[in-house]
Amino acid sequence: MRVLFVASECYPLIKTGGLADVVGALPQALGRLGAEVRVLLPNYPEVAGALGGTRVVGRFRERGGDVTLLAGEASGLDVIALDAPHLFDRPGSPYHMPDGQDWPDNHVRFATLSGIAARIGCEGVAGWRPDVVHAHDWQAGLAPFYIRLATVPCARTVFTIHNMAYQGVVPTTELDTLGIPSRFYTADGMEYWGALSLLKSGIVYSDRVTTVSPTYAQELRTGEFGMGLEGAVSARAKDFAGILNGIDDTVWNPRTDRLIPATYSPRDLSGKAADKAALQAAFGLDVDPSRPVFTVISRLAYQKGLDILLAVLPELIERGGQLVLLGSGDPDLQRAYMDAAAGHPGRVGVRIGYDESLSHLAQAGADAIIIPSRFEPCGLTQLYALAYGTLPIVARTGGLADTVIDANDAALARNIGTGFVFYPVNADRLRFAVERAIALWYGAPEVWRRLQVNAMAQPVGWHASAERYLDLYRSLPGEGAGAPAQPEAPAEKSAAPKKPARPRAATAAPKAKPATAARKSRKSPTSGKNGG
Ligand code: ADP
Ligand code: GLC
Repeated sequence: MRVLFVASECYPLIKTGGLADVVGALPQALGRLGAEVRVLLPNYPEVAGALGGTRVVGRFRERGGDVTLLAGEASGLDVIALDAPHLFDRPGSPYHMPDGQDWPDNHVRFATLSGIAARIGCEGVAGWRPDVVHAHDWQAGLAPFYIRLATVPCARTVFTIHNMAYQGVVPTTELDTLGIPSRFYTADGMEYWGALSLLKSGIVYSDRVTTVSPTYAQELRTGEFGMGLEGAVSARAKDFAGILNGIDDTVWNPRTDRLIPATYSPRDLSGKAADKAALQAAFGLDVDPSRPVFTVISRLAYQKGLDILLAVLPELIERGGQLVLLGSGDPDLQRAYMDAAAGHPGRVGVRIGYDESLSHLAQAGADAIIIPSRFEPCGLTQLYALAYGTLPIVARTGGLADTVIDANDAALARNIGTGFVFYPVNADRLRFAVERAIALWYGAPEVWRRLQVNAMAQPVGWHASAERYLDLYRSLPGEGAGAPAQPEAPAEKSAAPKKPARPRAATAAPKAKPATAARKSRKSPTSGKNGG
């Protein structure tokens, strides 16, 4: 099984959120099951720097610009980097200019990525042609569409929705630029409230659609969570599934983690106590093992509900807790948390920014993590927390609901609890959950310890979900060509191959090009994503 992943982020090359973690880890888990996965990414400066030696495997003219495909390896991943300096060799985050605004040509940048994915899915690259093109989020949402337009046999397509809130909305004036014939601008095509949605393109035109947890898959079919695309999702009901994300336990493992001062295991948690002291010191908190340390590691965005936590902070502190927050995003929230830190010295520590190493220290050193999300497609930080024996306090939504077992009386009696779950998502319910946690911390430390052991025993790796993806790929019918209703030739600029392709034909250009040096241009993501 040959699979081409197409995405705008991939850990450890470039990351603003959980999408990168998934695109970095799932290919390796699939690889362990025998699949051959390559990841197509934009050659941002960070990617160029991390890839090191690459070879040129293709050169094309795409959407008016010259692009080169570079094959390389990094951290066990086979990467194909789309080198298009006019689109991707820029400072800032993958989606934003250094001042935090979206790049105005994001739709062209990512349509080019999708066009190249379709080309590889139909023609192959350097003698390798995927059986499946697996596209992630709106940035890759046109890849299945361009493949539908092709008149030659092409790979099958899977599209994964990581977050319905980012829909890749583009004005209809861009139809031509994106090579989308106007007949696809319909209610059951890509039309979205008088504009185009590239996320909807992925939902409508791929062979199968997935999202990242079973509960979010249910939620997406409702008006509350579907964000206007619940109809499009429901129309694909028989081809739609929720497959839970996993974690890469070579990166997130308290037994082996090199980014924390002391490693530990459920049998011996003394290392966690040392990490807690280091975390308290790093965030300027009173170094006191008796106080429960709560952490937040998050984008500061509406989705994450961190305004709700602010309302609960006074009680958390009054009852003896400490808070460590690592995050960036909404300027008002950043300011509010900075003010909270200034107002509660020794009890609230805040770091505004993005810091991979500190995120490991916070997971290892904290006693609990708070995730009051209004919606959460899967969420990875509660999975990392489980693995690190850091009890999650989570809203009952999306993947949070699927992965944390509330330590209520029944669960305690059966010894299956792993954290604290609250619903509905409001300050009163969160306050109650935090109070329950603090009561347990001080009143029943042996029960807390049992919950930690339960949490650390949860199977949060990728194996089971990778098997589900593989089953999904295998369930796809043989390769197909074209849209069901007689596709006309796409507009001139479209990437879809018009000539009969030469599947598995070598397109490698002989000349090797050294990777450009990484520019240390990455800024902390603000919203972390491009809303489109
Ligand atoms: P989302 O993708 O919606 O942001 P997830 O929970 O799926 O949420 O993934 C977030 C990822 O980003 C995790 O790997 C988390 O550790 C990381 N992360 C979020 N904020 C920060 C930060 N400020 N510094 C370091 N890592 C962060
Ligand atoms: C999105 C979601 C998050 C999910 C991640 C990876 O960013 O917000 O819940 O874990 O994608 O799938």
